Amino acid sequence: MRNRTSGVHDCARGSRGKIGSARLEPACGYNAGVAFRIRPFQKADFEVLWQIDQICFDPQLAYSRPELAFYMRRPDSFTLVAESAPVPGGNGGSDRTIVGFIVAEARRRTGHIITIDVVPPARRGGVGSMLLQAAEDQLGRSGAALVELETPVNNMTAIQFYKRKGYFVEKTVPGYYSNQLDALVMSKELVPGTSRFATSP
Ligand SMILES: CC(C)(COP(=O)(O)OP(=O)(O)OC[C@H]1O[C@@H](n2cnc3c(N)ncnc32)[C@H](O)[C@@H]1OP(=O)(O)O)[C@@H](O)C(=O)NCCC(=O)NCCS
Repeated sequence: MRNRTSGVHDCARGSRGKIGSARLEPACGYNAGVAFRIRPFQKADFEVLWQIDQICFDPQLAYSRPELAFYMRRPDSFTLVAESAPVPGGNGGSDRTIVGFIVAEARRRTGHIITIDVVPPARRGGVGSMLLQAAEDQLGRSGAALVELETPVNNMTAIQFYKRKGYFVEKTVPGYYSNQLDALVMSKELVPGTSRFATSP
């Protein structure tokens, strides 16, 4: 959800392992062979995440610090961070680099992806996929049967990414964003048959 005309915004602009424990997986597009892990957000990450958001979105859609903090602090929301593994022989942890993050929220049986941001040099290396999968897993564990999100109609990268990850376009919301841009609402069933748009057998 991002700068909706209502004043609320999301990318709305949402495991291959357990959340809370480090998961290291190789990615190929960013320093080929570098492994990444997904972990829960820590307070000290906030400024870096905000800066990544500024890089990832046009000024009209990027979150202000209070907006990002607002979404991350909502009662049912959570934030996961992707970071590169420490360099062998490095300083044992402080050389990890945050390469992306995802903010998602569970609203009863429906999960919602608030934003997903991957730094440009790390894109097409599987980081976005890892973040989305981890968020879907966490949403599924908290009872979500469906995951929804909004994305600007002109964000072809995001649309291609979500389609590749099993999301379908539900509808267009005219003038959803504060710059009057339309949004696509996209969704994915975590439990088959739960979408409002699913056809009855
Ligand atoms: C969308 C985004 C999160 C994807 O992250 P990523 O780490 O590059 O994604 P992945 O590497 O896991 O990509 C998985 C698949 O999505 C598709 N995809 C990703 N980027 C794509 C692009 N630029 N063009 C076409 N397809 C793309 C591909 O099918 C890709 O698989 P492949 O690389 O094997 O072909 C990233 O581009 C980003 O942060 N963009 C800016 C912020 C943004 O728009 N967020 C979405 C807001 S609604």
